[in-house]
Amino acid sequence: MKHILHVTSSPRGPESHSIQLGNRIVDLLLAQYPGSEVTVNDTVASNYIHLNEVHPVAYRLPEHEQTPEQKKVLISSETAVQQVMDADIIVIGVALYNFNMPSALKAWIDHIVRAGKTFSYATGKPEGLLTGKKVYLAIASNGVYSDGPMKPFDFSEPYLRFIFGFMGITDITTYRVEGAGMPGKMETALEAGLESVAV
Ligand SMILES: Cc1cc2nc3c(=O)[nH]c(=O)nc-3n(C[C@H](O)[C@H](O)[C@H](O)COP(=O)(O)O)c2cc1C
Repeated sequence: MKHILHVTSSPRGPESHSIQLGNRIVDLLLAQYPGSEVTVNDTVASNYIHLNEVHPVAYRLPEHEQTPEQKKVLISSETAVQQVMDADIIVIGVALYNFNMPSALKAWIDHIVRAGKTFSYATGKPEGLLTGKKVYLAIASNGVYSDGPMKPFDFSEPYLRFIFGFMGITDITTYRVEGAGMPGKMETALEAGLESVAV
């Protein structure tokens, strides 16, 4: 039995390739770990605010020193961090936008990368605090980025690998639905991506 967190970033609902790919990963995980609990965080609906003048100050304070206003601003961050800490497996759907992740997903990242919670500089060098977890990336794109001339231009995957490594998670597997805008590939892109999943 595992706690699975499925984080999505497409506004396209059931039509979304990244959500369908993430769902396939979750379904196979449920088959492998019957009785697992799944929490879905739709970052488009969650609508995380851009970090404002309160966050950098409040992020540094222990909870008992935070003002009621700071506590209120941090509620969505605290919830997002707790979801990540509770999860054994995190499945992240990425709709590739402008060669990167959607800003909704980046806003979520800005709410979970927290000193003293998900990483620490206490020993003088960065230490990830999210240990023993696994991440699956489910990336959807119209172009092909797994190989070929466009490979260097998917900036979402290397960044997500880096930032989750920074928080202590290095066991990361990527699946893709790609080429969905390319004649000759688009006809089978979704099916091929879904079929490629083996957890
Ligand atoms: C605003 C926007 C930007 C996009 N930028 C890219 C891009 O840089 N590269 C690419 O291959 N596809 C790009 N696409 C196509 C999407 O990656 C593709 O539609 C993908 O399936 C989106 O994920 P979803 O199906 O989960 O919504 C873009 C689409 C939109 C709406």
